[in-house]
Amino acid sequence: MPSVSTFPDTTAGGAATPARLAGILATGSCVPDGVISNADLEQLVETSDAWILERTGISQRHKVGAGVTTSVLAAAAGRMAMERAGVETVDAIIVATCTPDTFVPSTACLVQRRLNLPGIPAFDVNAACSGFVYGLALANSLIGQGAINSLLLIGAESLTQLVDYTDRSTCVLFGDGAGAAVLGPVASGGMRAVRWAADGGGSDLIYHGPKAGEDGAMSGPDGLRMLGKGTFRLAVERMIETVGALCADAGWSPDDIDVVIPHQANLRIIEAVSKRIGVPLSRFMVNIDRMGNTSAASIPIAMDEAASTGRLRDSDRVIFVGFGAGITWGGAAMEWTRPASR
Ligand SMILES: CC(C)(COP(=O)(O)OP(=O)(O)OC[C@H]1O[C@@H](n2cnc3c(N)ncnc32)[C@H](O)[C@@H]1OP(=O)(O)O)[C@@H](O)C(=O)NCCC(=O)NCCS
Repeated sequence: MPSVSTFPDTTAGGAATPARLAGILATGSCVPDGVISNADLEQLVETSDAWILERTGISQRHKVGAGVTTSVLAAAAGRMAMERAGVETVDAIIVATCTPDTFVPSTACLVQRRLNLPGIPAFDVNAACSGFVYGLALANSLIGQGAINSLLLIGAESLTQLVDYTDRSTCVLFGDGAGAAVLGPVASGGMRAVRWAADGGGSDLIYHGPKAGEDGAMSGPDGLRMLGKGTFRLAVERMIETVGALCADAGWSPDDIDVVIPHQANLRIIEAVSKRIGVPLSRFMVNIDRMGNTSAASIPIAMDEAASTGRLRDSDRVIFVGFGAGITWGGAAMEWTRPASR
């Protein structure tokens, strides 16, 4: 079984050395009521339930209805996390999203308005599917250095608004939703290490725009586009490397990891990461079958489900790891502080 420290280190970051350690005090999530099943997609493109399940592990994904935007989902998830944390305000709001309600103002400011929390900083982070783990890296610094005492960090997306439902290679993948966490300084446990990185040289792998033909010419409507095989390979490599770096920084071995909360892009990616790092799949939180790929929302939705179902217990050693368009990747090693109150 390979040791994760034998994989190359491709990320910036390191062991948490701030004056205070940041921990997650409570979680929340919100997914829209609408559902697109594999059978629904069979009506739209030439595909089959069997193909989608075998290649991705996805059975269904959620879809926003009329009038429901990213900020609506984000505010609902954020409100739930704040209620569970027992707080009426926070010192800052960060929304990780690549599907903002609009270019200006930020979705974080729209969430701030919905939650009636004026006078605190609020801004978006766009690191695509790595957005939530980028937010954890920011939380580690901001809370660790004492700049703020509490943070509402939300990952939220309405990707179905960007999907081209004539492109069978991508339309089967993506769904909508939001997950949130309230973070603050903790006396024990908390963030042990963070890693984050990007390589804009891979910006053609996943993008929003017209399709690129074999001659490079762009044509057709805008939509989410992906070079599936190349993305798959890189996602596996970068996620493995990130887990290795986080374990090395935190002083953990793969056996020490209790729960891995990975970005939910493809069940086969998660299985490949599990096999290569030698951590059994049973220790991975997986909900891609019901959610599809919700980009920046996937990790916090899975985290909230793990917390809600008792899968995350006090003192558990948890690895968050993500990969996405940009390309971007990163993660965090965290000792789970205490279950969110419910
Ligand atoms: C997208 C993905 C599921 C495609 O699976 P794959 O096994 O790589 O499939 P391919 O793209 O090689 O396509 C194989 C064949 O299936 C076909 N196909 C693609 N989508 C299909 C669908 N929905 N239904 C049926 N057939 C489909 C292709 O046209 C291709 O046919 P061909 O051989 O006749 O050309 C997979 O590559 C993937 O998950 N990639 C990474 C996703 C990811 O990591 N995202 C992270 C960031 S968001």
